[in-house]
Amino acid sequence: MKIFIDSADINEIREAAMMGVIDGCTTNPSLLAKAGRKIETAIPEICSVVDGPVSAEVVSVEYEGIVEEGRRLAKIHKNVVVKVPLIAEGLKAVRTFTQEGIKTNVTLCFSASQALLAAKAGATYISPFIGRIDDTSHEGMELIEDIVLIYDNYGFETQVLTASIRSPYHVVQAARAGSHCGTMPFSVIKQLLKHPLTDVGLAQFLADHKKALEKAK
Ligand code: E4P
Repeated sequence: MKIFIDSADINEIREAAMMGVIDGCTTNPSLLAKAGRKIETAIPEICSVVDGPVSAEVVSVEYEGIVEEGRRLAKIHKNVVVKVPLIAEGLKAVRTFTQEGIKTNVTLCFSASQALLAAKAGATYISPFIGRIDDTSHEGMELIEDIVLIYDNYGFETQVLTASIRSPYHVVQAARAGSHCGTMPFSVIKQLLKHPLTDVGLAQFLADHKKALEKAK
């Protein structure tokens, strides 16, 4: 499964990229606001650090505005993927972007029926928000399983980009379900790496190495 960082914070994006574990990046208006960045300057900077798809979200909700904004964002860098909300006007714009060869990430997906329509419109990626579904006392991961099954059944090329990931277990579940990609905060990427037995084992090796050096004196 491809791992995307869900962030607009260039420092953490750079750190994750240096670890060699990220395949792309997703941003949204809330993440840009949190990082205190404007989309016009943040996206080129992220594209200079991340060698892979970088999602930049439109804020228009009418077809003409979405298309105008999306074309402008797509011109920033070849890796820009235009992120479009899952509404009727958004799907019209996705159809246009697809015809123009502009990649799209259809966001705010909360049902399999929405995901089916996004794929029919030609979305490059679909972003189902599993954490936000969990927040409503439903099993978000069931949506990932349903979408993967439906896309497989009909050979849709749209990639499932599991979003709103909150924990390492979400990542493992998404990978088990066959999600093509998962986008997660840097904190989750760092949690994926951690295991207490690694730390205990490393401390033991270093202590034994020190002892061996002392003995050899
Ligand atoms: C990414 O594309 C989404 O915008 C993001 O994963 C949403 O995550 P949140 O539910 O934690 O805000």
